[in-house]
Amino acid sequence: TNRNIPHDKNLDNSLTLLQEGYLFIKNRTEKYQSDLFEARLLGEKVLCISGEEAAKVFYDDSLFQRKGAAPKRIQKSLFGENAIQSMDGEAHIHRKLLFMSLMTPPHQKRLTKLAIQEWEALIPKWEGAKHVVLFDEAKKLLTRIACKWAGVPLKESELEERAEDFYAMVDAFGAAGPRHWKGRRARSRTEEWVKSIMEGVRNGTYSAEKGSALYEMAFHKELNGRQLDVQMASVELINVLRPIVATATFIVFAAVAVHEYPEVKQQLQSGPPEYLEMFAQEVRRYYPFGPFLGARARKNFTWKEAEITEGMLVLLDMYGTNHDERLWSSPNEFRPERFKDWDGSLFDFIPQGGGDPAKGHRCPGEGITVEIIKTSINFLVNFLNYNVPVQNLNFSLSRMPSLPESGFVMDNIRKK
Ligand code: HEM
Repeated sequence: TNRNIPHDKNLDNSLTLLQEGYLFIKNRTEKYQSDLFEARLLGEKVLCISGEEAAKVFYDDSLFQRKGAAPKRIQKSLFGENAIQSMDGEAHIHRKLLFMSLMTPPHQKRLTKLAIQEWEALIPKWEGAKHVVLFDEAKKLLTRIACKWAGVPLKESELEERAEDFYAMVDAFGAAGPRHWKGRRARSRTEEWVKSIMEGVRNGTYSAEKGSALYEMAFHKELNGRQLDVQMASVELINVLRPIVATATFIVFAAVAVHEYPEVKQQLQSGPPEYLEMFAQEVRRYYPFGPFLGARARKNFTWKEAEITEGMLVLLDMYGTNHDERLWSSPNEFRPERFKDWDGSLFDFIPQGGGDPAKGHRCPGEGITVEIIKTSINFLVNFLNYNVPVQNLNFSLSRMPSLPESGFVMDNIRKK
């Protein structure tokens, strides 16, 4: 079958995938001059697809489902088992509305207000420090505000460990071996912690505020009218906390962009206010975070000459679509201005997935992510003076997730 489309000749590409990372799919769509190719990966035959049309078909839920798509090893580290990412149909939409209701503009505002307060509170400490590593500071700050915002009690003494655990779950996604196991242990610890709080809320010994993520997860009712069990409610609460901490990655990439492109910094200081938003979008497009997504075919169908059979695993190339030259001119240049005339397509700019978040699996946290990047970079650029000492700011496209090597070190920090 499928003689008409390119096949990667390797017997199994799992190792190549780990070596080529973010460029694994793009290297091959370029080599074959094709939006799709077949490969053997993770022990099975998969179809890799890239580009705007690929994103459209991937998010057609009459054709694809998530059940059985995410490997258990990803569920046991990054996602949590049997959580929203692996649901389909009515049950998924119902659960998704709960998440969407927690990420509305008022929620975004409350979170960014906390972020500004906490960034400002760091100034005296930073002024007295020899140097600071932005990534470490951002992880802790985001853990603190995520918990405060969600109504989750957090002792200052446990802040650092919780922050490390949240990031370790994310850091595990492209790993085999020790980094994977570190993510699993981080998840077990975090689930135990959140479960003990969730139990308190359920049995009335801890009172959560109505409208907070903690409260809404604790008392959410499924379509059958029943509450989630404590385990599931805790996993889903972690699905809100962990990704807020993960935005530390974009904050660091954004700081690198400010450092490497002086004209961008100048625009952020004295350009129009819209520039900040375009900058945040370009950070999400240009820098690597999510590499690709997986779903399984619901039925047999044909797409662009490929015969897709029921149950087949299909991978959508996020990184490659965000760097597709048919969609983005000079995709490997950092140019926030490109977003001035972006048409807002739901399928060409997919750093956090594509389609309609209320109907499919697209990330519900994009508003929060963009606002956190904007607030944090505005703080760095317009509230502070700092020096960027010599350091290794390189980031690898084969290490998933990626990050500038040094985590972005700053010194000589002064309030403006
Ligand atoms: C889903 C990326 C921030 C909550 C996703 C997906 C991606 C993604 C690629 C999967 C889309 C799909 O399966 O079709 C990111 C990135 C972020 C980020 C790169 C920035 C660091 C956030 C934030 C939140 C969040 C801040 C919440 C506060 C979620 C949830 C899902 C999700 C709950 C599952 C949605 C579903 O399965 O229906 N995200 N995200 N994310 N994200 Fe994010």
